[in-house]
Formats: sequence, C-alpha cells, structure tokens
Amino acid sequence: MRTRPLKVALLGCGVVGSEVARIMTTHADDLAARIGAPVELAGVAVRRPSKVRAGIDPALVTTDATALVKRGDIDVVVEVIGGIEPARTLITTAFEHGASVVSANKALLAQDGAALHATAQDHDADLYYEAAVAGAIPLIRPLRESLAGDKVNRVLGIVNGTTNFILDKMDSTGAGYQEALDEATALGYAEADPTADVEGFDAAAKAAILAGIAFHTRVRLDDVYREGMTEVTAADFASARAMGCTIKLLAICERAADGGSVTARVHPAMIPLSHPLASVRGAYNAVFVESDAAGQLMFYGPGAGGAPTASAVLGDLVAVCRNKLSGATGPGDSAYARLPVSSMGEVVTRYHISLDVADKPGVLAQVATVFAEHGVSIDTVRQQGRQDGGGDASLVVVTHRASDASLTGTVEALRNLDTVRGVASIMRVEGE
Ligand code: HSE
Repeated sequence: MRTRPLKVALLGCGVVGSEVARIMTTHADDLAARIGAPVELAGVAVRRPSKVRAGIDPALVTTDATALVKRGDIDVVVEVIGGIEPARTLITTAFEHGASVVSANKALLAQDGAALHATAQDHDADLYYEAAVAGAIPLIRPLRESLAGDKVNRVLGIVNGTTNFILDKMDSTGAGYQEALDEATALGYAEADPTADVEGFDAAAKAAILAGIAFHTRVRLDDVYREGMTEVTAADFASARAMGCTIKLLAICERAADGGSVTARVHPAMIPLSHPLASVRGAYNAVFVESDAAGQLMFYGPGAGGAPTASAVLGDLVAVCRNKLSGATGPGDSAYARLPVSSMGEVVTRYHISLDVADKPGVLAQVATVFAEHGVSIDTVRQQGRQDGGGDASLVVVTHRASDASLTGTVEALRNLDTVRGVASIMRVEGE
C-alpha cells in the first residue's frame, strides 16, 4: 500500500459533512485498505469557524474555501455545501487545480451537470455524485455502470422523503395535508420552509439527473414537468383506496414507446397497492427501474440524513481515490443519444378525474361525449348521489391511457358544461 496519503478537502461541515469527517476518521484503516493508500482530511471549509466540531482538528478548519481548493496538493474535493454558488465556482476551481470532486449537490448537478462534466473531462478529473439523488441508495452508479450494457426505458421513483412522509401520514391516518405537514415539521422531516420539497423542486432536480443518466441524453431542469403535492386531499386518498391505490409523489422518467424521445416529470399520482413503490413508507425513498434485459429493478433505502448520505459520499470517495491512484478516470458524462425531451402534453398515461355534476338525466351522456370528442377512452365511471339533497352528484371517471394534451382539452371542455359544477380533482394513475 502507498504510504503517502491522498488529501481530501471537505467543503461544508453540516449534517452530512460532519458525518463524512467522522467516518473518514473512524474507518480510516478500512478506507486505506480499500483504496490502497491512506486518505487524509487536509482541510474543512465552513461558514462558522467558531462552532465546536467534535473529532475535527480546529487547525484544519477554514472559512476560505477558495484558498483550500486552490492549494494544489488536494486530490479530492468533497462538496456538501449545496446550492448553486459558491459550490459551482469552487468545484470548477478544484478541477482547475488538479482535484477530482465528489458532490452531493442535486440542484447544481441538475442545472450545470453538463458544464461541470466538461470541465472535469478537460482536467482528466472525476465528478461523482451518488449522494445527490436518493441519499444512501446506490442509484447513480448502477445506472451509469451496472446497467451500461442494458437499455433503460423507465425510471419511476419516490425521491423525496419529506413528501413521502406526509403522503404516508395522510394515507394511514386520514389526516389532511396541513395536519400531516405540521407533524412532519414537528418531527424534523420537513424544513421550516418546505417549498422545495412539497412543490416538487427537489424531486424535479433528481428527475433531471436520473433521466439524463438513464437515457444518455441531456435533460435540463426546466425540461422536467413539475407539480407539487400541496393540493392532495383526504378525499383523494379515499378515491385512491376505492380503486385499490395509494398516492405518491413520483419522479417519472420515460422513453416514449417508439424510443424516439423521452420525458421527465414530477407530480402526485395514484399507484396500485400491489406496486412495490406503494409499500414505501415514512421518509424512505425507492426507485423502480425498468430496462430491456434486466426487467424490473427496485432500489430502496434512506434518501436523506447525515450518515446515510455520507455513506454514498464515502463510496464515491473510495472510487475516486482508486481512480487517482491508478491514473484513470471513471465514467463521465454520457449524453451521446441526444434524444429530444418531449413536453408534458405528449406524456401518455391514465387519469382519475373527480367531477361535481348536476344529478339529472343526460349528464352522464354529456360528460362521456366530451371524453369521446377528445379521443379519451373511459375505463370506469362511478357516480354517487350527494347526501346534501342539492341535486348534485359526484362522478369519478377513470380513463384508459391518453395523452396529457387530450386530457387537458377534455377537462377544459368539461369545465364549460353548465351541468359540471366543478372539477374536484385530476390525478394521474401510474405503475400499471
Ligand atoms: N429534502 C430531501 C427529502 C432530502 O426530503 O428527501 C434531500 O434531497
């Protein structure tokens, strides 16, 4: 084994960074044996130097992250500060000064992955980011390496633990959205400002990364259709249960049936209770991958948290260090397929639509005609008279597969019918 250590600079020492530092120290011998050389924590860049950090030599702590990545003797920079800047500039500077990079930064990878990969390649460096999607779950490497000989057609994932916790709570207790969110906040699952999670921004960044890797195609963050889950109601869960489903916030990356294009989207959806993703409870994440040769694969585990995320970072660190020692680089960007990314209107799926309608002769026929005029085939219809004596009924229509554009046209036309008092909810049905 080489005795001269590989030097690691850690950018950020919060929930994840402190766990990375801890494991680097406590598992130092194992890491050295697996890599073939010791790894040394050579510097830790933080915002608040006065904070006491157990197990970290204060002499290593600096507020000057730029100087740290410019030192010239750093082999690997581990970036766990998150956000676009200063992370982007620091990573670029690290490559320019001879380091490889391990990052957990989904927002940055989703927005600027292509440019960062290009810079890494220009400097014969590695850019690894297993921790950016679904925390501890091995997913990036299986997609980039293990499935490199297969053809991935679909990636269907629960990639946000906060929203899965909320939806699971609503499902299991009948709670409304706000009540479930309040509990998630009290238990520390949801942040004080939960927007990034509940509005699907976090999941959309992960979907962009997954789609890009799965389909060897550049998928930008704004190519990803996004709908949050704040409008999901207890009534939606009751409807889902009535058809043997539950509701999950899904990131869905799909190759079109003709193989000529791809789509990426994040939205709440009903999935059958028999689907493996339906049993993903609490704040856990899971990703279901469908490919030509392997068939169906499911990756499951903790998608957040200090130690789980650090596990993924450390795995990357070992791989990158091994590459450094052998003078090689690992798999880089692969966007050779250059498939067009279609808009949401071209997505084809099933829909569950709940309408409030007048309960009088001919209404069902009127509604059915609107679906027919837009080429949307109805699978089932369930009508229930209201108990309030107002002469209205609730009509639940489940469609066969149709394009999102056709469904949008159908709903617009339904809203214009005098006999349709309102469209109570529209939910896609996936995983069948
Ligand atoms: N906020 C994310 C979640 C974890 O709730 O899953 C980090 O991506």
